[in-house]
Amino acid sequence: MSEVYQKLQVCLESVRAKTDFQPEIALILGSGLGDYADEIDIEQTIDYTEIQGFPTSTVAGHKGRFVFGRVQGVPVVIMQGRVHYYEGYPMSDVVLPTRLMGLMGAKKLVLTNAAGGINPGFQPGCFMLLTDHITTGVPSPLIGPNPDELGPRFPDMSEVYSHRMRSVVKDAAAELNIPLHEGVYVQLTGPAYETPAEIRMCRAWGGDAVGMSTACEALAAKHMGLEICGISCITNMAAGMSGKPLDHKEVQETADRVAVQFKQLITAVIGRI
Ligand code: HPA
Repeated sequence: MSEVYQKLQVCLESVRAKTDFQPEIALILGSGLGDYADEIDIEQTIDYTEIQGFPTSTVAGHKGRFVFGRVQGVPVVIMQGRVHYYEGYPMSDVVLPTRLMGLMGAKKLVLTNAAGGINPGFQPGCFMLLTDHITTGVPSPLIGPNPDELGPRFPDMSEVYSHRMRSVVKDAAAELNIPLHEGVYVQLTGPAYETPAEIRMCRAWGGDAVGMSTACEALAAKHMGLEICGISCITNMAAGMSGKPLDHKEVQETADRVAVQFKQLITAVIGRI
C-alpha cells in the first residue's frame, strides 16, 4: 500500500469512527463562503483537529471542519476551510482532504474560491466558471510513488472540469440572473500576491483568473475519477491591472458582498447535479 493511501486510510478510519455518512457531492468553500456550511441542514460536523494525521488550516477566516448534511435533499460533505500550499504542507497533504472526501464516497466535487481577475472583461464581484486550469506554477500533488489504489500514474487531464456539470452551472446561473463568465484558472503558490509581470505572464499563458488553491485539488480529484466543477469569485483585479495595491481585506470585502448570490448559485447547482 502506498504511503499516501495508508495515511488516507488512517484519516478515513478517524472519520468512520464518528460517522457513516455517505456523501454524493463534496464541496470546498473558498473565502467569503465559509458560513454557507452553517446554513445547510447539518447532520454532523468533524473538526479537522479530530482527524488523525490531518493537515490543519491556519488561515484567519478559514474554519477547519467537515460538515455533513443535506442541500436540497442531496447528501453533501463540505470542507469549511481548505488547506493551502503556502501554509507549508507538502502538496500530498494539501490534497489529502479532497481525496478523503472521495474515499468517503463523494462522486462529484464542487470547488469554489476567491481569485484575482486577469481577463480585462472581468470586474471585482463577478463570477467565473472554470473551463480549465494551469498548475504549472505549483508542484503536482501526484509527484512521488503513485497511489495505484486511487488512480493511474499518468492520468488524462483533457477535461478536468466536466462539460456536463458546466452546463448545469450555466443553466442555474442564467435562471438566477447571476452573470457568469467562463475562463482558465491559474494556480500560483502565494502567499504574496503576484507582481504585475507575473500577471502578464499568466495572461500570455492563457489565464483568466489567478489564485492560490483549487487547481491542485481538481487535479487530485480527477486522478481518482471524480466529476468536477469549479467557480471563482473574482474579488479583485490582479496586480497591475487596476493601478491599486492588492489587499486581503479587499478580497474578503468583495467576497462578503457577493456571498448571498454565490450561495444561491451553489445551492441551485447542488440541487441539479
Ligand atoms: N491573486 C492570487 N490569489 C487571489 C487573488 C489574487 O489577485 N485574489 C484572491 N485570491
